[in-house]
Amino acid sequence: MFMNLKLIVLFAMTIANSFRICAQEVLPAYLDESFPTEERIENALSLMTLEEKIAICHAQSKFSAPGCPRLGIPELWMSDGPHGVRVEFKWDSWEHAGWTNDSCTAFPALTCLAATFNTELSYRYGNALGEGARFRKKDMILGPGVNIYRTPLSGRNFEYMGEDPYLSSTMVVPYIKGVQKNGVSACVKHFALNNQEKWRNDINVVVSDRALNEIYLPAFKAAVQEGNVWSVMGSYNKFKGTYCSHNDTLINQILKNEWGFDGVMVTDWGSAHDTDEAARNGLDLEMGTWTNGLTWGISSAYNDYYLAQPFLDKIRKGELSEALLDEKVRRILRLYYRTGMNRNRPYGRFKAPEHYEVARTVAEEGIVLMKNENHFFPIPAGRYGKIAVIGENAVKRLSEGGGSSELKPHIEISPLQGIVNKYGAENVVYSMGYASGAPSYNEILPSPYDADSLLNAAVSVAKSADVVLYFGGLNKNNSEDCEGDDRKSMNLSFGQDKLIEELLKVNKNTGIILISGNAVAMPWVDKVQGLMQGWYLGSMAGEALANVISGGVNPSGKLPFSFPKKLEDNSAHYFGEKSYPGDGINQYYLDDILVGYRWHEKKNILPLFAFGHGLSYTTFKYGKPVADKKDYHVGDKINVSFTISNTGDMDGAEAVQIYVEQKNPSVLRPVKELKAFKKIFLKRGETQTINMALDSNKFAFYDEVNKKWVLEPDKYVIYLASASDDIRGKTTIEIIK
Ligand code: GLC
Repeated sequence: MFMNLKLIVLFAMTIANSFRICAQEVLPAYLDESFPTEERIENALSLMTLEEKIAICHAQSKFSAPGCPRLGIPELWMSDGPHGVRVEFKWDSWEHAGWTNDSCTAFPALTCLAATFNTELSYRYGNALGEGARFRKKDMILGPGVNIYRTPLSGRNFEYMGEDPYLSSTMVVPYIKGVQKNGVSACVKHFALNNQEKWRNDINVVVSDRALNEIYLPAFKAAVQEGNVWSVMGSYNKFKGTYCSHNDTLINQILKNEWGFDGVMVTDWGSAHDTDEAARNGLDLEMGTWTNGLTWGISSAYNDYYLAQPFLDKIRKGELSEALLDEKVRRILRLYYRTGMNRNRPYGRFKAPEHYEVARTVAEEGIVLMKNENHFFPIPAGRYGKIAVIGENAVKRLSEGGGSSELKPHIEISPLQGIVNKYGAENVVYSMGYASGAPSYNEILPSPYDADSLLNAAVSVAKSADVVLYFGGLNKNNSEDCEGDDRKSMNLSFGQDKLIEELLKVNKNTGIILISGNAVAMPWVDKVQGLMQGWYLGSMAGEALANVISGGVNPSGKLPFSFPKKLEDNSAHYFGEKSYPGDGINQYYLDDILVGYRWHEKKNILPLFAFGHGLSYTTFKYGKPVADKKDYHVGDKINVSFTISNTGDMDGAEAVQIYVEQKNPSVLRPVKELKAFKKIFLKRGETQTINMALDSNKFAFYDEVNKKWVLEPDKYVIYLASASDDIRGKTTIEIIK
């Protein structure tokens, strides 16, 4: 009896096992990880119907695309933004969904990250953001933005990495690697030439090939070729008369053919405008059509998208080939195998202590000490009795608003809270001083408060204080640092200049901390002893500011863009309206390659504060830079070594910059250009010998006649600098054939 039972069980197990083996054998390639990805893509493609291939190329909701439910290919979920995971939205509207589990860690805006000049920190930033996006079940985070800072008026400069293509190119790569390590696609944006918000939806940018390649494309090229970014977002504007999101030159010729991009080209929200162009010119994934990317949209229009029914109809009529569709689907499937169908990707984390530590460290390392006469800063606890904190930006929640990069932070320590935590409430008195209106995307809402009474109250508080800390600058309101429009001038708003003058009249011991993502005019600057550039610093803003102000942290930030003394000193504004903002149809980048410090130096126009400027509470002594050879060949690595000493009485960090000047170029070139940088941490009294390898290929210019990069044999001066206007040493080398 027992034997029979055993035989039955054995037989049953054999049958089951054979079914299991059969079941394993029938698993199609697209679901079988033992197959190479490209084979899995072809298998999935072969199984999808025409309608399913069309569907996978466009949105099904505000921030998702449908995948292929019948085949078990998951939906693709996206979220803004470059410095935090945005709130959930209702399926088909720009309204927040009102969930209670989507408040996030707000990281500092990317201007602050750029100001750290710290590539290792950029990787940690990207990884923390990627972990959060992964935990929130996002397959794509819509960032980083790397559009070049061309005008101080652009509403979205705060989201980007400044005016220099080398700085942006170098900082964007580790950020992307950090994000994508989590199986979440970074989405580098906005490709390309979206350097202002005014008329962003249609302006046609006219720019030389040389400026395009030397200034505006490098960060995107680095994102693709060094960062291996999995998706790229097209910009709203036009180039060569064609919308950038379906632009043959930018996407097919440069991005995909020349650079070898194998990922997904996605629209900005509402940046697609034509089926034939979208089909032929390399657009792969259409999102947000029939919306303005911010506030309004035609509801449930998904089937009317340019790559939806209209595309399907044209394929059926033979007007467009199915092969064009297949290429899009291949890229989208490849993105799936990197994200949603990647079984090995991590699970992510959200609001983890390490994320707040990254946010705080980036904030602390990005804050720039602009002026510090008479050792105004640091202000250790106990140095003064009563501390007056003045200014709306000391309390305003600045992670909200600003457009698509808006965040709902789980924590946002305000500057006032940070100061109170550091110095004790009994020693701090606050007065708002000025008030802006509520944030809005399409109008300027006036403040409900009486400006004079706010000012008078603040002045009387300042009068009786031992020291005044003023927190002002810009904010995320419309026409400030906000997507969708540009600022109207470089001036501070809401009567701040007058308020600052009045404060200085009653108390010379006033320090100014500007919270902004853009350069501002400072008519009072000569009267101020202590001045800091504090960026939109995110969740840990107040703690980071208090740590730097008190001397707990030695500031080491460097400006990622120039502060002109007046708007006309800026390259984009020098050439008048044709150059900025354009005539509503076309805009001409007449400044060409001379953007930012390149302009200031070539035209001998002294900036208020120079690119790369940033002071420390300690001092650094640089040794003479020495190159390992006198002569080099084209393409050689140039090894430069130098010593650097911390000669002060505080530990600190210095972002050493290396600029290069070609002595006798055959074309117009900037006086010098940033070609390397390194953040060096030195204990007080410590000396280090630093070796930096320069890639001589990076000294080349773009020859727009022959459409190639050229490194001319010539003498090149290598400048060792603490800022673009603070040269600490130089050496000259020769590049021979
Ligand atoms: C916006 C922005 C883009 C953002 C997208 C989704 O209009 O231009 O940066 O990622 O739409 O919100």
